[in-house]
Amino acid sequence: MRIITFGTYDLIHIGHINILEKCKNFKGEENTLIVGISSDEFSFFKKQKYPIYSQEQRKKILESLIFVDSVFYEESFEKKRDYILENKADVFIMGDDWEGKFDEFNDICKVVYLPRTPSISTTEIVEVIKQK
Ligand code: CTP
Repeated sequence: MRIITFGTYDLIHIGHINILEKCKNFKGEENTLIVGISSDEFSFFKKQKYPIYSQEQRKKILESLIFVDSVFYEESFEKKRDYILENKADVFIMGDDWEGKFDEFNDICKVVYLPRTPSISTTEIVEVIKQK
């Protein structure tokens, strides 16, 4: 199956690796995993701050992971439907912090939310480093 997922993937951590692994192996198959990473400008639009790593660095890091087959830049929420269609995705997967948010795409693919890895996020890592 062709799986698509989205995220910023800044300061790669175990929660990121776990969800990418679950996507790659979804339903016990060796799927093709396509990742849409938020461009620097889209990240700024969403969070009013730029990621620590540039979009080029984040893309290269993701491309080097064994679970990931291809990476593209996500530039806006409005284009999400086109990204799913262009990439011929069968399944759209996100962590369950997004539960219910993308159900509108069930008409063009299967939308699945998987459990997040507890107690870790990029935001939390930045906060911990700041306090040291
Ligand atoms: N994710 C996860 N478990 C975590 C953190 C993230 O499964 N502990 C998943 C998210 O649900 C999403 C993907 O990883 O599907 C990319 O999330 P992203 O927003 O880039 O990571 P966060 O660490 O949540 O970043 P931030 O703190 O900036 O929101």
